[in-house]
Amino acid sequence: MKDKLIIIGASGHGKVVADIAIKMNKWQSIAFLDDDESIKASMGLEVICKTADAFTYKDEADFFVAIGSNATREKIQENLIVEGLNVVSLIHPSSVIGTDVEIGIGSVVMAGVVINSSTRIGKGCIINTSSSIDHDNVIEEYVHISPGVSLAGTVKIGRLNWIGIGSVISNNVNICSGCKVGAGTVVVKDITEPGTYVGVPVRKID
Ligand SMILES: CC(C)(COP(=O)(O)OP(=O)(O)OC[C@H]1O[C@@H](n2cnc3c(N)ncnc32)[C@H](O)[C@@H]1OP(=O)(O)O)[C@@H](O)C(=O)NCCC(=O)NCCS
Repeated sequence: MKDKLIIIGASGHGKVVADIAIKMNKWQSIAFLDDDESIKASMGLEVICKTADAFTYKDEADFFVAIGSNATREKIQENLIVEGLNVVSLIHPSSVIGTDVEIGIGSVVMAGVVINSSTRIGKGCIINTSSSIDHDNVIEEYVHISPGVSLAGTVKIGRLNWIGIGSVISNNVNICSGCKVGAGTVVVKDITEPGTYVGVPVRKID
């Protein structure tokens, strides 16, 4: 672990991520990288340069990619990993993490989250505010679980999926990769075809 943390992405999501890093109290300094030259600082933390400049800080900083788009986050994080930069996970101190839970590198667990026993979270995931992930779940890589989502026991969420705010996924349900699940959706059966799903009961719209 290094003294400095560099967060790539100074947007709203970047602010929440930085707040978690501050509360973890592990880094002496925190700064952003962002490709929007008009953003000079965010939440009082300096934007020091652009994403491509990350490699110049390889020896002095840990890194976190705070980009909401799952595909973009994957692309940037995988590039950092290949180049040997130290990508870290961020866990809000108010979250509750059960026994035998694994959290992949570059994932963030936000305030008020509960992750119960024997759940696996892949790398680069966003486990957003107050979501509840029960026992024996498998959340694959670069998934976004939005605020207030409830996943029952033994749920599997495929890679790069976005589960919208307040959704409910019942126990033993598998959602294949390539899916968006809209806000407030209730899923009680497996989703086996990539697409966009909404509503109660759930229906495919795209
Ligand atoms: C599912 C979603 C991605 C679809 O977005 P979109 O592709 O732009 O779809 P549209 O807004 O064009 O809506 C298409 C249709 O689906 C309906 N619809 C969209 N989202 C819906 C939802 N969550 N529940 C019920 N119906 C929904 C729309 O009313 C519209 O119906 P219509 O054709 O009868 O008018 C988006 O609506 C959504 O729910 N996003 C989640 C947002 C979220 O969780 N944010 C948290 C970020 S941290």
